[in-house]
Amino acid sequence: MLILGIETSCDETSAAILEISANTTTLLSNVVASSINLHSKTGGIIPETAARQQLLYIMPVIQEAFTKSGINFDKFDVDKITVTYGPGLIGSLLIGVETARSLSYAFNKPLIRVNHLLGHIYANWLNKNVDEISFPAIGLIVSGGHTDLILMESHEKIKWLGGTRDDAAGEAFDKIGRLLGLPYPGGPSIEKMAAKGQKGKFNFPRPLADSRDFDFSFSGLKTAVVREVEKQKKLNDQTISDICLAVQTSIVDVINKKTFDAALKYNAESVLLGGGVAANNTLRRIIQQNSEDMGISFYVPELKFCTDNAAMIAAAAFFKQDKVSWQKLDALPSLHFQN
Ligand code: KG4
Ligand code: ZN
Repeated sequence: MLILGIETSCDETSAAILEISANTTTLLSNVVASSINLHSKTGGIIPETAARQQLLYIMPVIQEAFTKSGINFDKFDVDKITVTYGPGLIGSLLIGVETARSLSYAFNKPLIRVNHLLGHIYANWLNKNVDEISFPAIGLIVSGGHTDLILMESHEKIKWLGGTRDDAAGEAFDKIGRLLGLPYPGGPSIEKMAAKGQKGKFNFPRPLADSRDFDFSFSGLKTAVVREVEKQKKLNDQTISDICLAVQTSIVDVINKKTFDAALKYNAESVLLGGGVAANNTLRRIIQQNSEDMGISFYVPELKFCTDNAAMIAAAAFFKQDKVSWQKLDALPSLHFQN
């Protein structure tokens, strides 16, 4: 089976072709065009700019995905078309959704809609035997817009355990990065600076770390950093690095604690990471170490599949066949988690 995936929820335009045969998923192509350079000039995403770039990139990106996988574009030789329908920026989402609807109609192909957040978790099923990951699994989605913990008892039974009450983990990285005058996006910039930081110079709160639920809150951390920056007369590179290390430690500590609270509570056999913040090496290392110590299998996508991409959307569509007619598909910018 060949699935065409389309992802346009934010500032990446992506198309991928995934082959599923003999119980194995094989990614044939995954093309990503990003407008991130335009946003780094403004220190954050301007939705209107992101949407315009989506429109420019979408067809060339889809065509390239066909070319790279050696599949005929004119005959549109795929079995299914799948697209992210939310959550995300409305202008960006609409480009992917409208393109997928038109292609579904024009080539008479079934259309599957995918929740972007679930897509991040399904990046773990790329280039694998479809039965490799055992359930129950705890999924942790840490991205620019979301911090969510989910329980997967099977592909059919997925429960949302909790999420952020305010800023997402990636959003906290981005806002604090901007505050410290670092290049956008803040996550990778903070990680880079933190590598030169000295441990223990600063100590920031670990919000909700001991709350008994699976909720997160990162806006207080941002306020704590604002106060600390105001106290400093001059921010030199070393102080910035020390702050970055303390910020990264706080965020990683909270995420790590909640993930394993959930893993213990639900007797998880696997822990699955996904989302842009899962590219953070400290986070990957700590969660991997704790999983090994607890005898839990740990999965994290390759770096390029942590940030937004269409390969993960195609993988999700194979397991979650949320079929919809082209007449009925809508973009839902505030889509929440659902089974
Ligand atoms: O999943 P993603 O590409 O887009 C959303 O769906 O939001 O995630 C982007 C987020 C940004 O907030 C970025 O700062 C963060 O992922 N990020 C990182 C790292 N790389 C990207 N955060 C921490 N450490 C990183 N290495
Ligand atoms: Zn994402």
